[in-house]
Amino acid sequence: MSEKPRVLVTRRLPDNVETRLKNDYRPDLNPDDKLYPGDELVARSAGVDAVLPCPTDKMTADVINGLDDSVKVIATFSVGHEHIDSQAAAARGITVTNTPDVLTDATAEIAMLLILGAARRAAEGERMIYDQTWGAWAPTGMRGIEVTGNRIGIVGMGRIGQALAERARGFGMDVHYHNRSRLPADKEKGATFHEDLDSLLAVSNILSVHCPSSPETVKLINAERLAKLPDDAIVVNTARGNVVDDEDLIAALKSGKLFAAGLDVYDGEPNIHPGYRELTNAFLLPHLGSATRETRDAMGFRALDNLDAFFAGKEPPDRVV
Ligand code: DGY
Repeated sequence: MSEKPRVLVTRRLPDNVETRLKNDYRPDLNPDDKLYPGDELVARSAGVDAVLPCPTDKMTADVINGLDDSVKVIATFSVGHEHIDSQAAAARGITVTNTPDVLTDATAEIAMLLILGAARRAAEGERMIYDQTWGAWAPTGMRGIEVTGNRIGIVGMGRIGQALAERARGFGMDVHYHNRSRLPADKEKGATFHEDLDSLLAVSNILSVHCPSSPETVKLINAERLAKLPDDAIVVNTARGNVVDDEDLIAALKSGKLFAAGLDVYDGEPNIHPGYRELTNAFLLPHLGSATRETRDAMGFRALDNLDAFFAGKEPPDRVV
């Protein structure tokens, strides 16, 4: 290719990433950070060589099929890639890449924050400050659940699950996990493997979800599974919103079956189930998992590393399709 490849960038990206894009490519940037609906993505793809989308871009089969023939690669600014119809991309011979590894620590930090916030009633406490309802200190007031020395169950022991386990060990927690396959000892680091999810649920005082969204994991955490947790358990989700059944989780939080939940991701976000706002025992964040300056730069650079490899005729390091 004699000219620099043209890249459709669907969202405003960190300055350092846009600088590199301008240097190495001909980017169509989105300085107003406006969300492009599917038909606009299709229209804007005319003549571009690559698309650099985000999880907010629903690249359905219709959108993929509508992309200009010039589009050869989609490098998403995310590790999750369920927003891109992989079958449609494969059928059109479009390569798809993601950004693994670089957001592992940032996401594990948010999972730990959610565990602590949910267990120690941080949202409720903060509201007391703002609502000026903080009364006198009381021996029985605002008692939460101690995280230190408690037992955590991790569903999905990939990179982020393992990074959370590392942090949990720092709190003296007893780490249990369920995964498609057992990890080797150097990665398991003494954690207890449960081949069966139900067996993990039965011992998880704190359950943290780290599996990707897929047809097999949609509403994985539903009423039937929540009922298998010990009473007073805490559920944390930093994976994808649709892995949890909102109605069932809200019911378990309302009934007192669960002590609390800590959530960073939601089905249909940012339009979350309104029931969450009525709860006092939910610590809710707006999908902040990867939101650090360091990680967002690293995600952009990783997407560009993939484009660099692709346009140099090499195998992109993070090819998923
Ligand atoms: C991802 O990369 O999939 C994350 O959800 C973004 O925070």
